Formats: sequence, structure tokens, C-alpha cells
Amino acid sequence: MSRLLLVLASYSTLPAVLGQVQTREDALRCAAEPWGRYSASGGLYTVRGEKYIYTFSGDTRSHEDNRGGVVSTNWRFRLSGNGTKCWERLADSPAAVGYRSTATVLNGTHVYLFGGGDTSFAATGHFWRYSLLENIWQELLPSEVQGPWPSERYKHATVKLSETKMLLLGGRRGTTVLSDAWLFDLERMAWSLVGSNILQVYRHGMTYDPRRQVVWINGGLDGNRQRYGSQLWLWNVSTYEIELVPTEGPGPSRLASHAAEYIEALDALLFWGGTCSDDVQLYLYNIATSSWCAVYAANRPDRRDAMVWALDYPKFYTAQGDLICHNFGIYPISDVHMFDFAAPGQGWQMLYEPRNERGRGTEAYCDGTNRGSCQPQPLLAERSSRLSQPEGCESGYMDSLSSWTTTTLLDTPTTTTLPNTSGTPAWGSACRTVVLSACIFGIVTLW
Ligand SMILES: *[C@@H]1O[C@H](CO)[C@@H](O)[C@H](O)[C@H]1NC(C)=O
Ligand SMILES: *[C@@H]1O[C@H](CO)[C@@H](O)[C@H](O)[C@H]1NC(C)=O
Ligand SMILES: *[C@@H]1O[C@H](CO)[C@@H](O)[C@H](O)[C@H]1NC(C)=O
Ligand SMILES: *[C@@H]1O[C@H](CO)[C@@H](O)[C@H](O)[C@H]1NC(C)=O
Repeated sequence: MSRLLLVLASYSTLPAVLGQVQTREDALRCAAEPWGRYSASGGLYTVRGEKYIYTFSGDTRSHEDNRGGVVSTNWRFRLSGNGTKCWERLADSPAAVGYRSTATVLNGTHVYLFGGGDTSFAATGHFWRYSLLENIWQELLPSEVQGPWPSERYKHATVKLSETKMLLLGGRRGTTVLSDAWLFDLERMAWSLVGSNILQVYRHGMTYDPRRQVVWINGGLDGNRQRYGSQLWLWNVSTYEIELVPTEGPGPSRLASHAAEYIEALDALLFWGGTCSDDVQLYLYNIATSSWCAVYAANRPDRRDAMVWALDYPKFYTAQGDLICHNFGIYPISDVHMFDFAAPGQGWQMLYEPRNERGRGTEAYCDGTNRGSCQPQPLLAERSSRLSQPEGCESGYMDSLSSWTTTTLLDTPTTTTLPNTSGTPAWGSACRTVVLSACIFGIVTLW
């Protein structure tokens, strides 16, 4: 078929840069910008009526200059409301927390984080409580918590089962891959071991399905530190029994440090990122039919893993992470992207483009030449939407792909270079304005 170009929305008659909501110029208005980082923990939390994506600590080390390390700096990025969106620095944590500690909000107001790696990349058993309203960190000590204490670990995962309960599985300590599972009960202020041999796994995607009261698990690495294949596990949290689920279709394979969410409105699972071997597609798993769908929305962000992400359906956000696929080096970043299931025709939208090589005001400005770890590749590397796999499967979740397309181009648009932001695009005249119902972000970049 001819190449389809997904046309991005624009305000009135002014065409916008494909997929870009805020530019580096907008970012310059912000007071500060974090260094790019990966293996932070965090998520989307609502604080005093505003929605933010929070990120706690992480590792800023980059192969660009071999500087950085596991940090104790914490940030949030406002998602709701109008005006320029900025990263805001929060109170430092009492210690550096890297390698995917887990951040779970319980009882609405406090984030609970267990484990993670320290500045020398050793696994810890720290248990932190961060107050969203007061921006205060507190360490929870074994003397304040009943029951046994989970061993030190990083790259494990937790899910929230209720406002007072979170469940933790796996992780790694040195060369040991853990298979135990723990329940934290805030009301009893107690940890309890719920299984010592559930599944040897770390860097896995794990999400709670309240409809079935099960946890779904995909990807990650096994006891030999090799990536799992396409397995999907269903873990019953009544019995703590785990089983493999037979699935059909082009599912994700060998993902690690990826995003995992259960989408209640679709009764489906979402997985994204965590490999160089795919095309940054969204993987949706239809639970009722046990079938996979891979959706290639336009303007897919550059490949990465170990990012933070958040689902606020119909919007899915991702921020930061490690641009792993450039010579398999470590290139941390501080961008923010969003995909709106209610407006899939817009493709992914970049809400924040980093302004600095390492994402902080004191560093050399990133000049758009793709030097430096701010942008080893175009951040919006994938310009075009593609057929979903299997063809048409996306229509089970949103508008079918054919309805996303507002024009067909005769010329193949370039897919490897950045748009020339100082002039009119060659294919600009082909663009047709479409409704931009979801553009709540106020600022749209002009060509
Ligand atoms: C935010 O922007 C929307 C859309 O332009 C507008 O309707 C709304 O009044 C604005 N809100 C504020 C608080 O400025
Ligand atoms: C839950 O939050 C309420 C209101 O802030 C507080 O009074 C209560 O102590 C909290 N419960 C627990 C178990 O932390
Ligand atoms: C989980 O286990 C309980 C108790 O055996 C059972 O009733 C329930 O059907 C199981 N859930 C699933 C989704 O298999
Ligand atoms: C970008 O567009 C401007 C204005 O059309 C033009 O002067 C400039 O040469 C273009 N730059 C590149 C790199 O194509």
C-alpha cells in the first residue's frame, strides 16, 4: 500500500510540528531541568487537584561522558492545566535510590518505596515514605513495621492491590535473582511473605487487574539473567498460584524494564518499551480473546527502557529512561511523551523536549545537531503510522487505523531526519486541520 502519513492536528490554520506540543524553546522558560535518568521510580499522582508525573531518583550515568550516577534528586512534571509545562525539583531523598525501587501510593497521600540500588549499585532494603502534600521523606525502620522484612533487592516490581495493600515480586541482589513475593499492609503496618518461590524474575512488567483480582506479568529476566520470551503469566492473588496463559498473535517478546498497565475501560493489558528489537509499538492484550494487538501509532518516541510511565486513561504518558539502542550504550534522557487513546490519529505527542545535553541548565545547550545524549536520534523517530498487527486489530480498542489517516502522500516523507523547524515543511500543504480536542497543553509549536 502507499505510504500513509498521519497528519497531526493543528490550531486553526497554523500547522503544528508533528507530535510536538512543547519545544526546547518552551523548555527554556522552565526554571530547571533534570539530568536525563533511567531506573527512576514514580508514576502519575494527583496533588491538590493537579496531575503530575513524579520521578524519584534513578541513575544519570551516560556513556556520552561517563559522568553521573545513582542520585537522590526527585522531580515532578505537571500534566494537567494550561501554560508551559516544566519539570519541578522536589525535596531530595535521604539516600540515593536507583534501579527501580518501587513507588506505590497508598491511602492517597503517601508514596511507599522499597529497595533499589545505592550509589555503588548495591541492592538495598530501605523502605521510604514520601508525603506528596508535604514533600517530605521519611525512612520506615524495621522497628516501626511488624513481621519479617523483605531482603535487599533492586529491579523488582510492586502493584497496588487496594488503598492499604501492595504486593512485591522478585528482583535481584548481586547475581541472585529472587522469586519471593511480599505483601505490605498499611493498616497493620506489616510485611508478610506470601510465597517464597513464585517466579524468578526481575525487570518484569507487572500490573494488577481488579476485575479478576489477578496480577499479570510479562517479560523481564529469568534466574540465568536471560530475557524471558513472550510468556504472559496470570498470578491469582487469592491463592498466590501462578500460571502461564496461552496467547495468540504478535505479542511482545523479550521486553525488560518496560511499561505494563491494566486498562479497565478496555479490559486489556498494555505493554510498551524495553527493547531495541521492536518498533516502539503499543502492545495491547485483549483478555477476553487471549489475543495480542500491536499498534504502530505515528510519532513513536525513540526506543528506550527503564523509563517512568503513567496511565490516566485515555492518556498514556512516558518520561525519561535510557535510550538503549544507540550502540547499546547508556543514554539517559528527560523528555515526556503522551499517547491519547481518545485521539489516536494524533499519534504520540511530545510534551517536553529537553533543552540541555544532560538535561540541566548549567550544561552546554543542545543545539539540535543530534550530538550529545539529549538527542542521539530524533526524539520522534517514527513519523508514520503503520498497519497494526494483525491488521485492523486496533479498532477493537480505538478508531481503526484507516480513520486516523487524513491524507495520503505521494512523496515518502523522510523518516530519519528532524523536521526543519525554521521553515514551512515541504509536505505542509498536504496537511489538513483536524480537531484537536485533546490539546489541553496550551502551547503548540509553530513551524
Ligand atoms: C485552559 O485552556 C482551555 C482551552 O484553551 C480554556 O478553555 C480554559 O479556560 C483554560 N483554563 C485556564 C484556567 O486558563
Ligand atoms: C490514611 O489517611 C488518613 C487521612 O489522611 C489518615 O488519618 C490515616 O491515618 C491514614 N491511614 C493509614 C493507615 O496510614
Ligand atoms: C483465583 O483463585 C480463587 C480461589 O481458588 C478462584 O475462586 C478464582 O476463580 C481464581 N481466579 C482466577 C482468575 O482464576
Ligand atoms: C530550513 O528552512 C529555512 C526557511 O525555509 C531555510 O532557510 C533553511 O535553509 C532550512 N534549513 C535546512 C537545514 O533545510
